[in-house]
Amino acid sequence: MKPTPPELPGMPLLGNLLEFGRDRHALLTRGLHQLGPVFTIKFGTRPVVVMIGPDYQQMFFTETDKTLSIDKPYENLKAAIGNVLFLASKETYKEQRPVVYAPFKHEKMARYVGIMQREVTAWLDGLGTSGEMEVTAEMNQLVQRVAGSALMGDDFQKGIGQEFWTLYTAIGKALDMTTPPHWPLPKNIRRDRAKARMRELLKPLIAERRAHPEKYNDFLQDFINTRTTSGQLADDLTIIDLLRAFMFASHETTAGQAAWTIIEILRHPDYRARVEAEIGENVAPGAALDGPTLRKLQHIAWAVREVERLHPSADMLMRVAEADIEVGDFVIPTGWPIIVSAAVAHRLPDLFKDPEQFDPLRYAPGRSEDAVHRFAMIGFGGGGHKCAGMNFANNEMITITTLLFQRFKLELLDPNPGRNFGLGAVRPTPTRVKYTV
Ligand code: HEM
Repeated sequence: MKPTPPELPGMPLLGNLLEFGRDRHALLTRGLHQLGPVFTIKFGTRPVVVMIGPDYQQMFFTETDKTLSIDKPYENLKAAIGNVLFLASKETYKEQRPVVYAPFKHEKMARYVGIMQREVTAWLDGLGTSGEMEVTAEMNQLVQRVAGSALMGDDFQKGIGQEFWTLYTAIGKALDMTTPPHWPLPKNIRRDRAKARMRELLKPLIAERRAHPEKYNDFLQDFINTRTTSGQLADDLTIIDLLRAFMFASHETTAGQAAWTIIEILRHPDYRARVEAEIGENVAPGAALDGPTLRKLQHIAWAVREVERLHPSADMLMRVAEADIEVGDFVIPTGWPIIVSAAVAHRLPDLFKDPEQFDPLRYAPGRSEDAVHRFAMIGFGGGGHKCAGMNFANNEMITITTLLFQRFKLELLDPNPGRNFGLGAVRPTPTRVKYTV
């Protein structure tokens, strides 16, 4: 019988929990350096296996839904969101999949890019001709507006938007991994009240959509119109859970990486010059953005990709072993949680040259460092559950960067932001930027 992966020393009873809470990237990097690519940390007395490196990541993603469970480790997320997406059982996921993927049909992207451009332009207009902004908070709000319009239509923000986002925040505050989600703690009681109120808010909206489907064209309408694998229409509660799930999946993740993209370009004047030249050559002020134009903005796309590598919002993913699994010289026993970490794996020096450097040209033809292994970069996950909204998010980040750099001269006032482990996604700490036309 093979041994379990070696254990990283921690504190009696607490294990590695405090260090994990303080800086999980530092903890996992320490484990990698001291023990190699497969090791065990402890949350209290509970062992958790960490696997770092593309071959292990490949196994992690391809074994998901086979020997690895994706819904079991996310009990807190399930209590916040509901029985949808990968938080549901394998059978329910399969049943819902056509509904989940309906909004991502290729031909719909042009419309989303239009919404992104409209919301970003309205945001820029609101900033006036000069001033100072805190870019992390600005991205948070901007991405909320884009998500609200794309998911629930143009009138969402003016109508129930404000109350929806207050409820969403209350639900998000209950998300932590340290206490069970069903304990009657004040934060869990507030979460359940907020979910009930959200249902009250959204039910009339869904009733109107069912009565007049021809009037609407957004994610919500797709959820309502599309039949599940067995040919049923989704019920109201499933649709409400899906809306909430999509908001959680799309909002903080995109906001964090959008903010880092702006910050990193500003921190690198040589690269910034390339970005500004590219915008000048390809985008006339006021012209409508579309897919072909976005594809010409190669330097911005590489910057967005480099931010996925260096500052992945989804810095860590989890599964639970459903059988004893052999990994190299070790065995992971049934029931043990397993972690992969994009934040740590994206800094492996044998895959990425000078991995701490922001160097978007590493993706340029001739270098293509991200093509060396299919599972080297996992900022959007991998395998059957790879992010459904990846193109949406990348287009949104490219649109924001293009229109912002086209409109203003920008100066970074806080050049060394830290990391904020927010409501489940990592974001930069507050960072001020000065702007003028
Ligand atoms: C920068 C932004 C984003 C990042 C970093 C991100 C990251 C991820 C990751 C890592 C997963 C896989 C989770 C796992 O395997 O445990 C995932 C799944 C998912 N994401 Fe994203 N995401 C982003 C934006 C979005 C957007 C904008 C949407 C929707 C509009 C979205 C919708 C989804 C959905 C529906 C899934 C589940 C796919 C499935 O299980 O079939 N995401 N995302």
